Formats: sequence, structure tokens, C-alpha cells
Amino acid sequence: MRPLKLTLEGFVGVRDGMKRESVTLDLEALPDGLIALTGPNGAGKTTLMDNLHPYPIMPSRASKLSVDAFSYWDHICGTSALKELEWEHDGIRYRSSFTFRKPGKTGKAEYYLAYRDVDGTWRPVSLPDGTVSDGKAESYNRCVEAINGSLETFFTSVFSAQNRRPLASYGAG
Ligand SMILES: Nc1ncnc2c1ncn2[C@@H]1O[C@H](COP(=O)(O)OP(=O)(O)OP(=O)(O)O)[C@@H](O)[C@H]1O
Ligand SMILES: [Mg+2]
Repeated sequence: MRPLKLTLEGFVGVRDGMKRESVTLDLEALPDGLIALTGPNGAGKTTLMDNLHPYPIMPSRASKLSVDAFSYWDHICGTSALKELEWEHDGIRYRSSFTFRKPGKTGKAEYYLAYRDVDGTWRPVSLPDGTVSDGKAESYNRCVEAINGSLETFFTSVFSAQNRRPLASYGAG
């Protein structure tokens, strides 16, 4: 999984850290090699890093590596928010879109995974078992895990969040 372009709208860490309502980070324009994200404490670095992957969790803010141990509603402000991430895996370009709306007391979240066809159109990801990314969290998670592996393995191996549990603290199992 290689992140290509991230947009966050209505996130607390972007508002407080960068004093703006939305931010777009274009990683494709960066040169090859090691890239550092720098800024003073509270500038919003972790808010960006925590979203540079397609799983519906901000790993440094979750109490454990599970979607049940995290709620986006604790990290967004206002009545609507958006996370959109374009990423690449095995030569295919994907787009994860999370939308959050909270006009009243209850909120509605939708999670879509699309891939870009050879003709340039975005189509919903579907799996051999018939699962189609239709906006529901469950279908989204199934599609993402079919492409990138389980959430727990991803955040224990290829992606390290701030304050991640050190590998040395894991048991053999
Ligand atoms: N859910 C939240 N509720 C309240 N404030 C938040 C929330 N998420 C982020 N913030 C605030 O937004 C700002 C940006 O946070 P973030 O953790 O992204 O900064 P950072 O650049 O990683 O800081 P550090 O260098 O300390 O790790 C901080 O002021 C933080 O307190
Ligand atoms: Mg941080």
C-alpha cells in the first residue's frame, strides 16, 4: 500500500493544529526516498500520519488495533467531515472515501472503496464472494482487508503509528 493523496475536511487535529478547515497532501509530487514530516508539537503531524492508510481507524488514537476501539466522531468537528485517500497497491489505484454527517444528535458515516479502471473511471471494489463496497463499514472493511491484509497485521508490520505498542512487548503467538 502506497498512499498518494490525502484530503481531510472537518478534523479537529487539522483545525487546531493548522488553523484551517481542510488540508490536501499530494504525496505523488514528492521525490523518491525517505520523507520527514516536521512541525512543532500540536501542528497536526499525527492527524495526517494517522490517516495515510485506508483502514477506518486512527491508530495512535485507538486503544487497541480494532475498528471497535476507535470512533471518528471523537476527532471531527462541525456537522460534516471527509477523509479521502488515494492509494496504490499491486499497480492498481484505489480511492477510499469516508463521509461523516451529523446534522442533529445522531451521525451517519459512509465508507466507500473504489478503484480506477483502465479507462480512468472510478468503480466500486467488489470481491469474488460477491461483496461490493456499498458505503457500509462492513463491506468496506472486507474489501480493504482482502487487498491489504488484516488491520492488526498492517499496523503491527508495515505501518507504525505514534506510540505504537513496541514489537518487543508481544508474546510469541
Ligand atoms: N480528538 C481531538 N480532540 C481535541 N483535540 C484534538 C483532537 N485531535 C487532535 N487534537 C489537537 O489538534 C492538534 C494537532 O494534534 P496532533 O496530535 O495531530 O499534533 P502533532 O503535530 O502530532 O503533535 P506532537 O508533535 O505533540 O505529536 C493538537 O493541538 C491536539 O491537541
Ligand atoms: Mg504527534
